Amino acid sequence: MCGIIGIITSERDQTGSDRVLDTVVEGLERLEYRGYDSAGVAVIDPERKTGLWRARAANGTRSLEDLVKQMEDAPRGSPAGIGHTRWATHGRPDEHNAHPHVDCTGRLALVHNGIIENHVELADELIAGGHRLVSETDTEVLAHLIEAAIVANPEARLEDAVRVALARVEGAFALAVIHAAWPDEIVAARRVSPLLMGVSDDHAFLASDVPAILGLTRDFFILEDDRVAVLTPGSLRVTDLDGNEVEPPRLHVDWDLDAARRDGYDDYMSKEMAEQPEAIANTLRDRVLPDGTLVLDEVHITDAEFQAINKVFIVACGSSYHAGLMAKYAIEHWARIPVEIDIASEFRYRNPVLDAQTLVIGVSQSGETVDTFQAIREAAAQGAKVLVISNVVDSSMARESDAVLYTRAGPELGVAATKTHIAQITALEILALYLAQARHQLTPADARALLAHMDVLPEKVARVLERSHAVHEVAERFRDSSAFIFLGRHVGYPVALEGALKLKELSYLRAEGFPAGELKHGPIALVEPGTVVIGVATRTPVWDKMMSNIAEVKSRGASIVLVANDGDEETARHADAVLWVPETEHLFAPIVDVVALQQFAYSMARIHGLDVDRPRNLAKVVTVE
Ligand code: AGP
Repeated sequence: MCGIIGIITSERDQTGSDRVLDTVVEGLERLEYRGYDSAGVAVIDPERKTGLWRARAANGTRSLEDLVKQMEDAPRGSPAGIGHTRWATHGRPDEHNAHPHVDCTGRLALVHNGIIENHVELADELIAGGHRLVSETDTEVLAHLIEAAIVANPEARLEDAVRVALARVEGAFALAVIHAAWPDEIVAARRVSPLLMGVSDDHAFLASDVPAILGLTRDFFILEDDRVAVLTPGSLRVTDLDGNEVEPPRLHVDWDLDAARRDGYDDYMSKEMAEQPEAIANTLRDRVLPDGTLVLDEVHITDAEFQAINKVFIVACGSSYHAGLMAKYAIEHWARIPVEIDIASEFRYRNPVLDAQTLVIGVSQSGETVDTFQAIREAAAQGAKVLVISNVVDSSMARESDAVLYTRAGPELGVAATKTHIAQITALEILALYLAQARHQLTPADARALLAHMDVLPEKVARVLERSHAVHEVAERFRDSSAFIFLGRHVGYPVALEGALKLKELSYLRAEGFPAGELKHGPIALVEPGTVVIGVATRTPVWDKMMSNIAEVKSRGASIVLVANDGDEETARHADAVLWVPETEHLFAPIVDVVALQQFAYSMARIHGLDVDRPRNLAKVVTVE
């Protein structure tokens, strides 16, 4: 998830400051929560040969601000400019890959938030046509596609060239383009990724989100999907992809800047939970070909090497460990490879048996957790193949692994893992299907059928998120309880563990997760009247066993809360309260079921007046042993 901004003005500020350049850099700082591994700005500058001036910096907008101040040739009085703060999905987070990207002439600059799914095919075509692409990003193809459209029709307007280019593009985009030949306009376009616009007497502006331009206006226009906007000082015009003018929806916001950064949500955690459908969709995007073949272009382990693997280890901590546990079931079921899973801090010191036929998967949203980092180093030292699942491009673990499969959840600021956890499960399910396909355990047709179940996960998670009030009422009913037991079987077991962790770390209540079948071997001694037992009781092949375990604890006076599939009254009959979720192919069910438990923990913490974004004693990244 990145942030883009653009401004055009007829004002010529002669005070030495520059309205355009200063507004863009300041706006980017306000968008840093959307991504901060690199940043850049480009403005129209008639004094320069290309007619544009550009500055880019790794390490976020502070570095960009310092860079712009140091650059003596930074223009003053520019009429238009665009900027970008990056959360890398394709290509290392460095200056080389930072936006804005330019075309071969250097006269066109472009910023983009989203993922171009067919960027490899387009790049090949452009390079064959003589274009020079210099970055590792998917975005750069857009600049050259528009350039090619301009060359093909010199009489066309910039907006026409943008439309021609977008007709070739598959994927998500919010983009803004400036061009030295059209210094009095900015052209923008949008599909899936958000884009807002605003106008005042002699300005027009755009941004990914409210905070970037809140200081300029409280009245916004929303650019809808497959719409193109032309911004000129004091006006904007919106058309569809055929060039027909359309009226954009309006939005008025009364937020202050801090609330705007949270997109109006009470806290980052609820904002990030709401972003989970997008995190799943982005993690899935451009990884499945139409025929069902899976493409993991960052995974530099050959099919032959995957076929030679005879054992998988998964190492991780906390929520990442729970995601890994869910993957154990999926990999063994589809790829038929034995999978061991270990808490990373244990793995390192137990002298595990590894060799070149072992694949060690390190799961870490930060890519910096020292327990997991040292575990994968131990694995590499013993000659194992190492693959990392990470949310941060070029993180320490990503740099030291044989292969990386990135989640694309965007920055997660809440300490409790939510959208990154969901994205990890998604990525691990994709990896399980990939391994199965590479080892000929799964045909592309079978994979396509299974992936059809994944395609609808964003919508199913969105349905769970819509039920937050009902979940809150359940939490209210048990607000004074002090002992919670979470139970699950099969893939419901790691969901139970994750639900217990969320409740512990957010509300500081005693909560433990167990395999439901394990209860009678000791933990059932904990159960007494007043104990709240939360069971993951969605339909799996072991649902009936799960219900027997629920009967055991109910007979001992426990209060029962069940996660159940919509309409499953047979399950609901056994519960004092139900957290309803849509039915899902059972190996994908954790992605949907866990969201209800995130919401339960969130509500309980809010009911107890606790800080859900910064729970006591916790850090977002644990870089100590
Ligand atoms: C989960 O809500 C916690 N924030 C914590 O357990 C976290 O999952 C764990 O520290 C692992 O972090 P990582 O994914 O960055 O390695």
